[in-house]
Amino acid sequence: MAAEHSDALVFFGATGDLAYQQIFPALQALVQRGRLDMPVVGVALSGWTLDQLRARARESLQAHGGVDEVAFAKLSSLLRYVDGDYNDPATYEQLRAALGDAARPLHYLAIPPSMFATVAAGLAKVDCTTNARVVVEKPFGRDLASALELNRILHEYFPEEAIFRIDHYLGKEPVQNILYTRFSNIWLEPILTRLYVDHVQITMAEQFDVRGRGRFYEEAGAIRDVVQNHMLQLAACALMEPPTGSTPEPVRDAKGTLIKAIRNLRPEDVVRGQYRGYRDEAGVAADSTVETFAAVRLVVDTWRWAEVPVYIRAGKCLPVTACEVLVKFRRPPFSPFGEELATAPNYLRFRLSPEILIALGTRVKRGGEMMVGEPVELEVMRYERHALRPYERLLGDAMEGDSTLFARRDEVEAAWEVVDPVLGNVTPLYEYDKNSWGPAEAEKFAPPGGWYDPPAKEPAPRGPAEPEATQG
Ligand code: BG6
Repeated sequence: MAAEHSDALVFFGATGDLAYQQIFPALQALVQRGRLDMPVVGVALSGWTLDQLRARARESLQAHGGVDEVAFAKLSSLLRYVDGDYNDPATYEQLRAALGDAARPLHYLAIPPSMFATVAAGLAKVDCTTNARVVVEKPFGRDLASALELNRILHEYFPEEAIFRIDHYLGKEPVQNILYTRFSNIWLEPILTRLYVDHVQITMAEQFDVRGRGRFYEEAGAIRDVVQNHMLQLAACALMEPPTGSTPEPVRDAKGTLIKAIRNLRPEDVVRGQYRGYRDEAGVAADSTVETFAAVRLVVDTWRWAEVPVYIRAGKCLPVTACEVLVKFRRPPFSPFGEELATAPNYLRFRLSPEILIALGTRVKRGGEMMVGEPVELEVMRYERHALRPYERLLGDAMEGDSTLFARRDEVEAAWEVVDPVLGNVTPLYEYDKNSWGPAEAEKFAPPGGWYDPPAKEPAPRGPAEPEATQG
């Protein structure tokens, strides 16, 4: 039976950064596609009026792709605003009144997790949790213990199927395309096993620094900020077994099983780095030991992936901004042509950003007398931009009650279990220069053939070189 559509959207933290960066642009896009026609109630404690919230929405849209006046007029007419303290019961009374007849609200908690319990209890008091859904942002907790506690709190008020834990990587078109491409073709799946795959590398490189988020980042660091969530979810999409269907539970079962099979990290599986200058950022301690770079080696204990290492590198102030999953295949066992290749020739490359690409590295004969070859890349697909912003897709899905692209409780807890043993200062911290690929120590467990550094910009597709012209 299809889930019922939510009949109101409430977003706590309406005057905050997430609303400005992500939520307003997503709401306008949903209106444009006819997917939003219900009250949208912003809640915050800012002393604002509804008109100020509308003005903020306009500014947000101007800064993120532009205002569509028709859609904006519609969005403005749907907007309501409740100004109040989350600790004050009167705030929830006002919210109840603003919701009118709505009986199935979706509550988006764009607020610090420390406020979840207060807000959920406040909502329950005015009967706004029955038949409601709740969307919560990452980071979901800061370690296994706090994630368990957050889940316990949320479960007091909401059943698991009503909880939507956002990991915006799951809302990305190219991440879904990893699943689609893997499980809609016959040729790929049989070779994605330990028999053919040498190792896997996942790189999330960011050229920029913490961009004014020093205070937030001090509480996080690269492992909490992106490895526990985005990177492990990506690994799960690339390595999971075929789901038995595309409805939420089969997909989340398969993803959860894979994450649970990842061995807990040991200190020798991790290299942490910090870019020189991080300690001078606003909000950062002068003696901070928070990592802005992490290189991690995962072991996946499954029949399919035994002894295939999975390497993750994520960091700020690296030479490029790009994200890729690279599956490196083994060498052919023997070359009848006597060629000795410096690197194994075959790979599968999913480039998630800036461009979206799926490509296969292969080798073909170079035109001419000799049986010698050259590497080429078969480009399976290439898009320059995303069809849908992740937040637009995810908010729309949550309103429809489709939790396929949201992390289930067991996935999130299993992911914390993987990183828990190496959080904090368990491993040494090494400095690195801005614009470098992290500390030299990361070389100590570089994958066979070395780290793969994704390019800043995808070069134009290139076929094999033309053979040299011969006479006659
Ligand atoms: C966020 C992290 O979750 O993801 C940021 O908190 C990071 O530190 C961002 O920069 C990256 O997202 P994207 O979609 O730009 O790759």
